[in-house]
This record gives sequence, structure tokens and C-alpha cells, in this order.
Amino acid sequence: MTQQLSPETTENTAMLSNDPDWWRQAAVYQIYPRSFADADGNSIGDLAGITSRVPYLRELGIDAVWLSPFYPSALADGGYDVDDYRDVDPKIGTLEDFDAMIGTLHDAGIRLIVDIVPNHSSDRHEWFQQALAAGPGSPERERYIFRDGRGEHGELPPADWTSVFGGPAWTRITEPDGTPGQWYLHLFAPEQPDFNWHDADVREDFRTTLRFWSDRGVDGFRIDVAHALTKDLPDQLPSQAELDAMPKDGTHPIWDRDEVHEIYADWRTVFDEYSPPRIAVAEAWVASDRRPRYASAEGLGQAFNFDLLEADFDAAQFREIVTFNLELSATSGSSTTWVFSNHDVVRHPTRYGLPPKAADEDKAGINWLLSGGTEPQLDAAAGLRRARAATLFELALPGSAYLYQGEELGLHEVAEIPDASRQDPSFFNSGGAEIGRDGCRVPLPWTASGPSYGFGEAEAHLPQPAWFAEHAVERQEDDPGSTLSLYRRALHLRRQLQTDETLEWVDVGGDDVLAFRRPGGWVTVTNFGTTPAELPAGEVLLASGPLDGDVLPGETTVWLRD
Ligand code: NOJ
Repeated sequence: MTQQLSPETTENTAMLSNDPDWWRQAAVYQIYPRSFADADGNSIGDLAGITSRVPYLRELGIDAVWLSPFYPSALADGGYDVDDYRDVDPKIGTLEDFDAMIGTLHDAGIRLIVDIVPNHSSDRHEWFQQALAAGPGSPERERYIFRDGRGEHGELPPADWTSVFGGPAWTRITEPDGTPGQWYLHLFAPEQPDFNWHDADVREDFRTTLRFWSDRGVDGFRIDVAHALTKDLPDQLPSQAELDAMPKDGTHPIWDRDEVHEIYADWRTVFDEYSPPRIAVAEAWVASDRRPRYASAEGLGQAFNFDLLEADFDAAQFREIVTFNLELSATSGSSTTWVFSNHDVVRHPTRYGLPPKAADEDKAGINWLLSGGTEPQLDAAAGLRRARAATLFELALPGSAYLYQGEELGLHEVAEIPDASRQDPSFFNSGGAEIGRDGCRVPLPWTASGPSYGFGEAEAHLPQPAWFAEHAVERQEDDPGSTLSLYRRALHLRRQLQTDETLEWVDVGGDDVLAFRRPGGWVTVTNFGTTPAELPAGEVLLASGPLDGDVLPGETTVWLRD
């Protein structure tokens, strides 16, 4: 155990300001640690690997890193099954490595947001193990959600609920005396038992965890499944069909209950113990009009807005989403968040290279993944062209932009992962009906050759396709036309051009062309169509693709100063 660092010793390093609003228009880069860089050659990315790549992150021009879970975990759900909230997985490092990583990031002027997973622990967490050993009715069981089964001998689950990953949401345990016993609730995998947030121990322990990482200098937290913590389950449980039919207006037994905000108001008092206050962003898949509750200044402060992620590459949809979300975030005094890709969805160049989402697709690109990348036909070049245009559009918007590792390399989703190599529990729990999220979690290519394209000395923990070579960092960094160069230039320019959080739409004619101006004369024009459009007057600062005189080609964004 290393010595704990006080906030004072880790703050105000050379390049970090004390500005409490630093997050409002930050560019935040998500690192999925096990797939970023492997320093110790065990096939799994690690904290020392991240530290070694801080110069790369600095050159990229991001303001903060959001680090997905790095805690001890059996990896039943990619680390979102946490064994111990106040330690580092020995497979990926130590607390000393964590301190070195955060120190190096801060010295480079980059803040750190870590993932907190409060809805569920792993089944290896000491509290869950104690709950199994302690027996029904014990205080140890009260920390989770245990129920007796139905049927004469309790052999039927308390309810017929399905987990988010497929398969039943209730699993039966064996009691300490060896007899079949109670059932516990897990909204996700069986290895992820849900906490009971009505229990005082649970509340106190998460306060301790928030302080533990804040004391180590962490700048903020991304809150996993922020909308499910406070369940209110009656003795007579509703069926899945009944649950599905209930409105999610604050009264649903599981999702988005109003009293969850009491927890976040409490956390806010912890965040405000620090200077600058620690920040938080909610992952809450709720109706958009309920999002500001999570983003309020008395609560978490910011909430993910996934609306662009769910949209087609389409001018009318983009305009409506931007207008709506800027107004919505203003209602809580927060800034909005723009996201195209993360570790849970098909990468956006791939989504944009496929026909618009089919009626039977829950998420775009899923049918394509299920077919092993053969059906429908992917237009990889068009997908990347649209993704680059969308990114330049995004990076000019007011609010913060959350980028996902590898999107700066223009990576597509990997469809060709053999079933034997898959890791995602949604693949196993759905019997293969869900292909899972491994295709966006394949370790990054740093070099065009080597056992894992520079990811590490050994083969990567998920197989990398041969086409990763052409996307490698080393292939792109000196190429001014590469996607990496585009991201670097855009992120550095964005820092210089950002002003207040307003934009004004500019009418440039044509349904497929969107244009907006930020204060100071920064104009962004995107041609969502395939027909060339007229380029408005102004000094060209950056373009997502080649320009043709005073013509803006199709599927291209340009930044101008007018
Ligand atoms: C949301 C996370 O982003 C996802 O990766 C995870 O599987 C679930 N929450 C459960 O923790």
C-alpha cells in the first residue's frame, strides 16, 4: 500500500489550472486500459503502458482521459465487475503505477476521470462472499438484493426478469450448509450482483471510494449505470412484461427512480471537499427530458448525451439534436456532451459505412457484426470519410467531446473475431444471438508490424486483423492527410478557437449543408450530401477531406474564419 497523496500535492502541477469549469468544453479521451498499451508483455494493456504513451496523448491535444475500470476483476464484463474499488488489478499494475500514471498525465496538462461502478460489484467482492457465507436475513445479505424463490421449494426465480446481457436476472445460490438457497438480482451478468442502495454500508463505502481516488489526485468520475441504483422492489414482484410496460417517469421499480438523486446530492458534498471540485458525468440511458436531473450542479454536474451516437449521418437529424441538447443542458446549467463511439457500440466509421439502421436492429451495425462483416456490404472508405466530417462537426460544437481510443486512427469495428476468442458476456449469455462488443475493444495498433502491432511484446488478448497495420500510429503520424493528423490539428485549433458556449446557425442554402458560427468568427460547414456545395467565403482553417477550390465536396466538413 502506498502512502496516500493529499489533494494539495497532486494539484496545480505546472500546466493544470484551478478552474472549476475546466470540464465544460473539454475534449475527453476514453482509454479502455486493457486494450491501449501493454508494457509488461502479458497480452493485456496496463497502467505503465498508458504512462509510456502520455507524450502521444499530449500531442493529440486532449484535455482529459476517462479511464475505464482498472480495478481487480475476473473480467466477466471487461472490468465492470469490480472485486475491490480501492485497488488496481494486478494484471494491469499497482497503486504505485497509478500514482506514476496520474502524475505523468498531470505534468502533461491532462486531467484524469475514472470509472465508478456503483450499481453492482463482482461476485468475488469480499462483501458478496460474506453475504453468501452469512445466510438469509443477515446484515451481510442486506448489502445486495436477495430474495427467496417461488415454488414449493423456492426452486423458481423470484421473477422472470431478463438481464441486460440476456439470460435470467436472478441466480440461485447455495447456502452455507450446502442446500439450494436464495436468489440474488443481477441486472447484468451473473458475476455482477446488484447492490442494495438502501443499505447504509453501501452508501458509506462509496463515499470512502470517492475520497480515496480524489485524494490520489483524480479529477473526476464517470458513473456507470447511474440511473439504476435505487430500486424499490415490492414483495410481489412484477413480471418482465409488466416491468416493460411501466412508465420510466421516476416511479419505475428499477430504472431512473427520483430518489437516486439523493445519492448524487450526497456525493456532491464529497466532490466539493476538493479544489477544484471533483467532477462527474452520468452514464444514464434515460428519456432526454430527465437527463438534466443527473446533470444538475447539485448532483453529478454532467450527463452523457448519446443522441448523435444514435443518429444517422444526416443534416436534419444533426441540427435538431444539437439545437435540442444545447437548450436542454442549459436548463440545468450544465454543458452537453457529444459522443460518437465508446467501448459499448460499433465504431462510428463502420456505422456510417453501412446502410441506415435496419428495423430489426437494436443498435446500428449489429446485423453486420452477426454476419461476420459480410452483410450488408460495408463501404469502409465512405464510412471513414463521413466519420471524419462528423468529428470536425463535433469538435466545433459547444460542450465537451468524449472521444474513444482508436477513433483518432480511423479504426473500423473488427468483425472477424473467432467465437473462441470472444470475451463479452453478452455473447455468452445470449447464446451468441448478441455478438457483443469485442470488435471495438481490440488493442490499438501503434506500429505496422510486430507481434501485436506495437501494442506489446506478446500477442494481444483479442486478435488484431491484418488491416490494422495500415491504421498504425507510425503510419499516420507523419502523413498530413491521415486521420491522426486531422484529430491532432483539430484538437489543438479547438483549444485556440473555443470561446463561450453559444453557436448561431448560418443559412448557406441546401438541405444537406449545415453551417454554424461560434463567437470570434469560427465557422463550421458540413456537407452531409454527396453533391458538391458552394464553399462560403472565409479563411480555411481545416477540412476533413480535400477541398476543390471554392467547392465543398460531399461528406466533408470545413472550419473557416470569416
Ligand atoms: C455500462 C458500461 O459502459 C458497460 O460496458 C457495462 O457492461 C455495463 N455498464 C455494466 O456495468
